Amino acid sequence: MGDFYRTNYFFIRRLHSLLGIIPVGAFFLVHMFLNSRAMQSQEAYQWVPNTLGQVPYIWAIEILFILLPILFHGILGLFIIYWGDINAHKPALSWYENWAYVFQRITGLLVFILLIFHLLQTYMVKVGAELAGGHFWIFNTMQDLFANPVWIWVYAIFVLLAAYHFGNGIFNFLYKWGITSSKLSQRWAIAGGLAIALLGVVLGFSSLWGLAFSDHAQVAQDTTSTTFTSESQHH
Ligand code: HEM
Repeated sequence: MGDFYRTNYFFIRRLHSLLGIIPVGAFFLVHMFLNSRAMQSQEAYQWVPNTLGQVPYIWAIEILFILLPILFHGILGLFIIYWGDINAHKPALSWYENWAYVFQRITGLLVFILLIFHLLQTYMVKVGAELAGGHFWIFNTMQDLFANPVWIWVYAIFVLLAAYHFGNGIFNFLYKWGITSSKLSQRWAIAGGLAIALLGVVLGFSSLWGLAFSDHAQVAQDTTSTTFTSESQHH
């Protein structure tokens, strides 16, 4: 553990905690919400990258408010897991609190690994399509991926892990920042956190359903499915 970390321990851990909620947790919910448009139609889903593509300096916004905070939270999170307090030496925590502590770490680790795959499978494909001068067709990209059912399972698990990590993290955050000091408020915090996690799961699963099992997914599978084509072919 470096000197800088030790002298600024309080501040760094609070920053880690805050970033988990804003912007990272907030991004997770918005991401699930926008992805759930895949349930409506191919056009509704395509609206998402088309609209985001019109936001000026979106690349800078993505780097500053999504990528860097996730990197900070994720990499420091790996160290926190590695340095981990040995839980058995702590004063008695409840059965659930003990498991929540362990799950927060297991889910963090797995989300880190899955995020790397996820970025390679989606963001890199999008950037590749744009560099090649084509247009990015998001429904087809994701559908090509989910043609292999293994990835449907992986993404379903990914959504569950991230949602739990965030939902339980809301409880941790409120506790750590002294917002929930009574036992009753802590009980409400875990209920509220898990309810928000459930919302993320419902939105994420509707996205998967739209891409893999809906009527419009079947129709798209019957026609030629390509990740990206030149603009003119589609007008
Ligand atoms: C990239 C991989 C990630 C790793 C390795 C990771 C790791 C961790 C760890 C170890 C903690 C516990 C910190 C502590 O007890 O002091 C934590 C807390 C938290 N994480 Fe993550 N995390 C990751 C991604 C995420 C994502 C994607 C979200 C949001 C969807 C998120 C939201 C939170 C929240 C809200 C907390 C609670 C903050 C607190 O402890 O006060 N994390 N994370």
